[in-house]
Parts: sequence; C-alpha cells; structure tokens
Amino acid sequence: MTWICRCEIMNRRFAIIGHRAQSSGKLNLNDLAGASGRIDVLARAVNTALFLSHGIREDSQVVLHLLGGPGPPRRIGFEGATVRGLHPDERAIAGQIGRVLKQPVPAIGQIVELHSGFWHSGGSLEQTLSEWHKDGVTTYTLDAEGEDVFPSIANPNGIGFVLSDDQPFSELELDSMHGLQRLSLGTQWLQGHACISIIHHLLDSD
Ligand SMILES: C[S@@+](CC[C@H](N)C(=O)[O-])C[C@H]1O[C@@H](n2cnc3c(N)ncnc32)[C@H](O)[C@@H]1O
Repeated sequence: MTWICRCEIMNRRFAIIGHRAQSSGKLNLNDLAGASGRIDVLARAVNTALFLSHGIREDSQVVLHLLGGPGPPRRIGFEGATVRGLHPDERAIAGQIGRVLKQPVPAIGQIVELHSGFWHSGGSLEQTLSEWHKDGVTTYTLDAEGEDVFPSIANPNGIGFVLSDDQPFSELELDSMHGLQRLSLGTQWLQGHACISIIHHLLDSD
C-alpha cells in the first residue's frame, strides 16, 4: 500500500452489509452463522469497530444493514460516543441485535433510539449514504480490487467506509456507491473485521 498522508485522529463510520442477515423475528443465538444469516460477521464487525482492549472508541460509529428478512430491511446503529451497557463479546452484541429484531421496523430514515447510543431505522445502504452525505462525511468503499492508496483525509466531519459481509456487493449497492472511491487494503480478500482493525490502525497512526 502506498501511504500518501497519515491523518489526525478523526471520527470514523463503518457501514456493514448483511445480505442474508435476519432483519426481524426471533434470533437463534446458537446459530448466528447459519439460520441467522451470518449475524456473527456483523457482531464481530461491531466488536472491532467499537472496542479497544480496555474501553470503547468514542470516535467510532457502526451501522449494520440487515437485509435478509423476513420483512423490510432494518438498520441498527451503535454510537461509540454514547453507547452504554455494551460488552466486547460477540454473543452479547448479537443478543442486543436480537432484542431489536422483536420490534417493528421503523420507517425509512426514522431513527428510533432504543437506549443511549443504540438505535434502529428502516432503509438500506442508500439511506445511510444519504445521511452520511448530509453530515458531510467523506465515504469510501473497501474493496480488494480498489485503489492501493490510502488517501489524504482531513475532514472534520469524519470519514466513512462501506464493507460487505462474506458476499460481494449487489448491483443495487454498487449503484448506490457509484462515485465513491474504492480503497484496497491489499489484493487478498480479508475478513471484514480485520479490515476495520487495519483502518483503525491507519487512522490512529500519526
Ligand atoms: C470477506 S470480504 C467479502 C468477500 C466477498 N467474497 C467479495 O467478493 O466481496 C468482506 C469485506 O471486507 C472488505 N475487504 C476484504 N478484503 C479487502 C481488501 N483487501 N481491501 C479492501 N477491502 C477488503 C470488503 O469491503 C469486503 O466486502
């Protein structure tokens, strides 16, 4: 990777797509990788995006996109700055997700806070990107086949990254991300949570 410019510590956001992730109903915590539609991948991403060894990253936000049904897609957000009662344990994070799935999906763009720093909303990636755009966030797609350059970023409104789960982005998602720069962290496909760790490292370095 070519390193163009190291960045000051800055707010970072991660949008994770769960193509088969269950969006409503009763979540089986004993089968997160199977019947739940790879909710284990999403829980790992939340864990890596939000937790330090001892403490929470207040500069980090995660938005999960649960697209697997039944019913409409649901987004679940975790705000590092304000979230309370969340533990760095994938099963506990999945348990939090499971509690949300029992609630009706809010309207697209309606953000319903369930407790501090933990919310859900209707809509899919297009809605998240529109919200981030309004917030002035600079957003990139993470893609092994993208540009092997970490750009110079100095945006006080923060920086956002879109990652998929174990499946490639759909045509619809690629359309919504049209115009976003695609960043590669190397030619090998890594697991999503590993990419999040690398991004933290790059943004934390000075
Ligand atoms: C397990 S990978 C997905 C692999 C999937 N088979 C595909 O073709 O997209 C999960 C996500 O991590 C990110 N990712 C994985 N490896 C990457 C790399 N080398 N550079 C940038 N992003 C990467 C991408 O956002 C990818 O969608």
